[in-house]
Amino acid sequence: MDFHLTEDQRMVRDAAREYAREVLAPRAAAVDRDSAFPEEGLRAAAERGFLGFLVPEEYGGSGLGNLALTLALIEVNRACASTGVTLSVHNSLVCGPIAAHGSEEVKRRWLPLLAPGKKLGAYSLSEAGSGSDAAALRTTAARDGDHFVLDGTKMWVTNGSHADVFLVFARTNPAVSPAKGITCFLVERGTPGFRVGKSEEKLGIRGSSTTELILEDCRVPAASVLGKVDEGFRVAMHTLDGGRIGIAAQALGIAEACLEASVKYAKERRQFGRPIADFEAIRWKLAEMASRIEAARLLVLRAAWLKDRGEPHTFEASVAKLEASRTANLCAREAVQVHGGAGYLVDFPVERYFRDARITEIYEGTTEIQKLVISRHVLR
Ligand code: CAA
Repeated sequence: MDFHLTEDQRMVRDAAREYAREVLAPRAAAVDRDSAFPEEGLRAAAERGFLGFLVPEEYGGSGLGNLALTLALIEVNRACASTGVTLSVHNSLVCGPIAAHGSEEVKRRWLPLLAPGKKLGAYSLSEAGSGSDAAALRTTAARDGDHFVLDGTKMWVTNGSHADVFLVFARTNPAVSPAKGITCFLVERGTPGFRVGKSEEKLGIRGSSTTELILEDCRVPAASVLGKVDEGFRVAMHTLDGGRIGIAAQALGIAEACLEASVKYAKERRQFGRPIADFEAIRWKLAEMASRIEAARLLVLRAAWLKDRGEPHTFEASVAKLEASRTANLCAREAVQVHGGAGYLVDFPVERYFRDARITEIYEGTTEIQKLVISRHVLR
């Protein structure tokens, strides 16, 4: 067992830390306040190669893999969770599955555009009636010669407003059990019959984009299928195993930011004639936050490491997401408490961390869904 990072991984972490401090941190409050999509942050991320971690070098990416991506996402989310989810979805829910399940033609066409950030990706599984029960989706895709015709409305599409490429899951065979007859399609923005609908206003990660997607007689070539026809649910689930590591990294980054802000404030803020860091009531909170963060870090990095080795990681990814998202919410709650009244004001970043932390227990599988996945593995 070796807990040391490789030279490449250390370089990625340090570059991401510098990027987060110089580019993201100064803009994060405004991105949140104005619900402004973090375009500048994304451009700067693209220049640093942060959009191509999961794209092999032969297709224009760095191929540095999941552990490197995870290290970068932790740093990014310490500064700006809106940018964090945007990058996580592009890397792990779009580039990752295209590299893993795309045909040679699809990989050659799209990966060299996605890796350097010339194009942005989105992943579209959920619908109004199918969130946790993902296999219940109702969008259809009917075969018509060498095309499929997609009809339906998708929801909760992260990056929807700005993405150029969408991985859309639709039902191709209504006659079999729900999880069996689903197919994954790569759909380009601009395809006739494809429309991005309403943008959602959110409690947190307000700079990230969340939209509806409307498909009406939307014809896509059969060559745009990812994986095999009717076997898209496996692609969706396999992809989410990786995506959940990304959200766990996001949660960890938010938790770290909460601890950092709390330590700073506890040293500065004086009450009863001394810094509040002198009081046991505050120290215990900081100690609890720090130890939970360390435990979550080990789980998150282990899940990413397993994925890089091509080993099973469904259970580990769910455990990592469950624990890291709990940790983020515990740390956010305690960070506001350490700050007292100041923590309730928008003038201090912990107010934003508190709102941003909440989503990590919801998207890419709620806490309850992680427990379902974990319990199925335990009972196997
Ligand atoms: N990898 C590969 N295949 C998998 C898999 C995995 N991790 N998990 C399940 N499968 C396969 C199964 O083997 C099974 O195939 P066979 O029948 O051939 O064996 C098939 O998929 C069906 O599996 P289940 O019976 O487990 O399916 P289920 O209907 O019981 O659902 C679930 C399982 C875990 C509840 C799943 O529906 C789920 O994960 N729900 C949550 C959905 C979710 O996370 N949505 C997130 C949306 S994206 C998002 O949030 C992005 C964002 O905005 C940032």
